[in-house]
Amino acid sequence: MKIYPTINIIGLGYIGLPTSLIFSKNGYKVHGTDIKKETISILNKKILPIEENGLQELFESSLRNGITFSEEVIVSDFYIVCVPTPYLPKLKSIDPLFVIKAVEKVLNFCKPDSIIIIESTISPGTIKKFILPLVEDFNKKTNKHIHLAHAPERIIPGNMIHELVTNSRTIGADDEITLDRVVEIYSSITSGKIVKTSILNAELTKVVENTFRAVNIAFSNELLKLGSFYNFDPYEVIEICNLHPRVKILNPGPGVGGHCIPIDPWFLVGDWPLHTDLIRLSLETNESMPEFVLEHINKIKSKHGVKNQRIGLYGLTYKEDVDDIRESPSLQLISLINKNLGSDLISFDPTLKKIVVPGQTLSYEEFLNQTDLVVIMVKHSHLKNNFLSLKSKIILDTHNYSPKDVSNNRYLLSDSL
Ligand SMILES: NC(=O)c1ccc[n+]([C@@H]2O[C@H](COP(=O)([O-])OP(=O)(O)OC[C@H]3O[C@@H](n4cnc5c(N)ncnc54)[C@H](O)[C@@H]3O)[C@@H](O)[C@H]2O)c1
Repeated sequence: MKIYPTINIIGLGYIGLPTSLIFSKNGYKVHGTDIKKETISILNKKILPIEENGLQELFESSLRNGITFSEEVIVSDFYIVCVPTPYLPKLKSIDPLFVIKAVEKVLNFCKPDSIIIIESTISPGTIKKFILPLVEDFNKKTNKHIHLAHAPERIIPGNMIHELVTNSRTIGADDEITLDRVVEIYSSITSGKIVKTSILNAELTKVVENTFRAVNIAFSNELLKLGSFYNFDPYEVIEICNLHPRVKILNPGPGVGGHCIPIDPWFLVGDWPLHTDLIRLSLETNESMPEFVLEHINKIKSKHGVKNQRIGLYGLTYKEDVDDIRESPSLQLISLINKNLGSDLISFDPTLKKIVVPGQTLSYEEFLNQTDLVVIMVKHSHLKNNFLSLKSKIILDTHNYSPKDVSNNRYLLSDSL
């Protein structure tokens, strides 16, 4: 009979929770640790704190396999660290404190030869600069030979479970034995290719992938602005260009959100400011988009005489069909508008069951009754079944998502108003 190693996942958020469930489903003895009492208490009541397609089934099978949750770190063969890695707002470089704290906690409990795998997204050099010295110092004092690896996670909310079991993985470790031990556990949960590399290259790949996407989106946002200034249809131009076999321009929109694209590229700019002009400009372009949306709202408002209290935002999350609002363009726009209009904007999001911003309604009907100008900020599937309900509204569609005839007064960000 195969003896499975024990795994302790540290941080049970959007990444750590599904990861712990998938390891448990695959036979590992898994313990999940989170500093949030509330998260642990909900999980121990057998309730999921986040919504995600297929997560409930996975949770049930993990419970049957004996997964446990607590605020404590326990003795294990592997520790997988999935804690947040925000950037320091002023310096724009990584704030490594969550990872440092999590590793320090692990070092208090680990047994000899255990492996600490950092899954959190980190800027290149973070492990060498902040984590390795802690572990080396600990090893010197205790002779426990604790090893480090980096296995950056790339799954996307909305399709997490599928991606967890099919995505290729990059595993970075600086010695062959650790690398092989880590590869063995990840190859048992994914059918994707496993790439072995150094810790530094693993750190770089994740940040570079997100930077590539941020720069590509900035390019398409610039095309969108050019379209509105010089009177051409950027959506059609992008669609035609993308027929070229080697061109793939991403979609323009009201800005970027989530935990990755608006944040990770700043790690490179923060650490290497002298040689990252293109990346910095791209990030600034993406960050300028909510302001660009606001300019359009103001022009439409004047043209149609819409009162501030009758403007509504459809969609608060950072992308369609997920309940994650972190860094979302809608929240950025709301904070701009609050400064600008001085009143709470009406908003609605079909994926949110709780009020997250003032002025938000949980009923779509109420949202429609209270608005004349509807700004489509997120391409939720819910709207596809409700385009007819927008017939009498003035629409600003920031994604070119709605049909052209959705209303007699439909505007796009590419319109020169
Ligand atoms: N969300 C995504 O789509 C995504 C995708 C790929 C990579 N990532 C990266 O994965 C990491 C985690 O992101 P997330 O979205 O899961 O974050 P999250 O905020 O949803 O979850 C992090 C969890 O860690 C817990 N935590 C913080 N410090 C802790 C500690 N010392 N001990 C135990 N628990 C602790 C928090 O309470 C929280 O529940 C980040 O580095 C992020 O950049 C996220």
